[in-house]
Amino acid sequence: GKDKELIRGSWESLGKNKVPHGVIMFSRLFELDPALLSLFHYSSNCGSTQDCLSSPEFLEHVTKVMLVIDAAVSHLDDLHSLEDFLFNLGKKHQAVGVNTQSFTVVGESLLYMLQCSLGQDYTAPLRQAWLNMYSFVVAAMSRGWAK
Ligand code: HEM
Repeated sequence: GKDKELIRGSWESLGKNKVPHGVIMFSRLFELDPALLSLFHYSSNCGSTQDCLSSPEFLEHVTKVMLVIDAAVSHLDDLHSLEDFLFNLGKKHQAVGVNTQSFTVVGESLLYMLQCSLGQDYTAPLRQAWLNMYSFVVAAMSRGWAK
């Protein structure tokens, strides 16, 4: 439907430059919640947040995140096929000390990145379409916290 078209259309250009867009997203995330930085065990190797974000380990995580988003966009017709993967990804994040509440601020950072990158094309329906897909990803990952 319309949601899928909006997401695919906007990802067409963004997906070609994953790392710089992911860096915008994570700069925003660490600005909104600097404490998240310390959950990356390799964050002790860098001084400032900007330092961290340009380090290879952080860029690798940014790349991993963008590849998960890319997978979701390419599986919009069949998001359920990603559930096992996302459940396990959730478990890994629980293990490194991430809180499910942090996914709210991750979502805000994703929308911030979209807004910065899409400019005029960032519309209310597009925002909602992305939120719907992101909510699916978060719900599936969050099952990894269940006891
Ligand atoms: C791995 C932290 C959000 C995807 C990791 C690791 C840490 C971490 C510490 C292990 C070290 C590493 O691989 O770099 C966080 C924090 C987040 C966050 C603090 C925000 C609160 C996300 C999101 C996604 C994601 C939103 C994708 C939707 C991944 C992937 C891995 C990973 C694919 C590799 C897992 C594996 O080794 O199989 N994350 N992460 N992360 N993260 Fe995140």
